[in-house]
Amino acid sequence: MILAVSLSSSNIHETIFRFGIDGLDEYYYGVLTPGTIITVAGHPGSGKTTFASQLCYSNATEGKKCLYISTQEPEEKFMKHMARLGFNFEVLLASDTFRFVRFPLISSEEALDSLLESITNLVVEFKPKIIVIDSVTPITKAIQSDIKRRAMLQNFFYNIAFDIKGAIVLVAEIPLGKEYIEEAGDVEFVADGIIILKHSIEYGLLSRRMEIRKLRGAPIEVSEVPFTIQAPEGIVVMMPPKSLKPKYYLKYFRTLCQELDERIGPLRSGELVLIAGPPHRLLLGSIIKWALRVARESNAKLAIITYKGVEEEVKEITETFSKTLSLSSDNINVAILNAAILSPEALLSSEINIISKIKPDIIIHYGTETLRILYAKTYPGLFEKYKLIGKSLLRKYNALTIEIQSITDISEVSADLNLADTVILLGENVKGLPEGKLIAYKAIEDKRYIDSLEKIEKCIPIS
Ligand SMILES: Nc1ncnc2c1ncn2[C@@H]1O[C@H](COP(=O)(O)OP(=O)(O)OP(=O)(O)O)[C@@H](O)[C@H]1O
Ligand SMILES: [Mg+2]
Repeated sequence: MILAVSLSSSNIHETIFRFGIDGLDEYYYGVLTPGTIITVAGHPGSGKTTFASQLCYSNATEGKKCLYISTQEPEEKFMKHMARLGFNFEVLLASDTFRFVRFPLISSEEALDSLLESITNLVVEFKPKIIVIDSVTPITKAIQSDIKRRAMLQNFFYNIAFDIKGAIVLVAEIPLGKEYIEEAGDVEFVADGIIILKHSIEYGLLSRRMEIRKLRGAPIEVSEVPFTIQAPEGIVVMMPPKSLKPKYYLKYFRTLCQELDERIGPLRSGELVLIAGPPHRLLLGSIIKWALRVARESNAKLAIITYKGVEEEVKEITETFSKTLSLSSDNINVAILNAAILSPEALLSSEINIISKIKPDIIIHYGTETLRILYAKTYPGLFEKYKLIGKSLLRKYNALTIEIQSITDISEVSADLNLADTVILLGENVKGLPEGKLIAYKAIEDKRYIDSLEKIEKCIPIS
């Protein structure tokens, strides 16, 4: 059996490889240095291949060659799946920064020797910086003896990682019904990092979570994060942002209601504003028109994310009114998300995705009571949890976020009231609010303003 390869004896330079996943690279940048072995484990369909390919793709795109060794799907199938996910491996193949090799399953230790020899030859010839073994399970299973298996992993893979001054990703399978890697002792001890991908059915929808079990050389600040798999990003994790508050306010926005501007204004980037009131006072069309006027006034980029509304209608109102205001369509974006078919994680990641791509100055978040209606009773705590994660994530982008929620009772927004920087409440048929009053306050400045709803209803975003 081949136990080691020696391609070079020079010292390891501190090249840093990327996970290719935003949140992980933000938190754990510097973990993937030359000589690192990362194990990605999970049940069938948990996203192991996607994780490994994404890591491979993002490094190969930066010119760090990646060798993908598969014991599973053939190249054609792999390429097709990856293209659908948004990874253009064809280009990398053409530039010879990526290679895919499929090895047949091995059934004996003799076959293993020849497999390891083939891998060595490939590595010597191609000189990759990243090697993925998808999966290592058939290899570890072919070795009966625990000691031999450990020696193979430790000597062969560890030495390869060291010699190529690169990183190795070992994909390990966890059978359905089991919660651990069968050869766990070996694969887990050899690896510098262990990431377990999990998926389950929650609230009737698919829910994915990533457990960061071990990462040598980094404190694990967040150990389990929800994630989604979506095109064209692949895996999108929902790491809480490292810093919560914006350091400074970039822009100021007028509400276009003189009364409000004078007393609680202006609204600022990085701020969370909650507007809550009865549904008939917060019609989507009126909100869109108001938001467009606010955006025009401050020459701001606007993203409208709504959980309610018919796509064609919402788009038509937005387009027509943008034209009336001579607003460029490049600065206006509308997304209608269906909270009934997307898990809270998927909703959040779609939003983060939209926001990180568009980088809007103002985000209008409409119809968020939908989440409360869907989850508050059946899954108590979940609604608040996702609100918290979502809001802290939104803050990261330093946009002014205006959340519009329909309520019938002020207690429905108690969590939001604590999270918002500025609150505007419309008291009309809402339990717990004084009838016919508008209450507005800026929590951070302790400014409070109460007036009759009737008096200012002409200038605030109500029908
Ligand atoms: N284009 C896509 N858009 C959204 N989700 C996708 C897309 N392609 C794949 N997925 C999701 O990713 C999952 C499969 O991920 P992947 O193949 O990475 O899992 P795996 O853990 O490697 O599975 P296996 O154990 O079978 O090898 C699919 O079940 C599917 O839900
Ligand atoms: Mg796979």
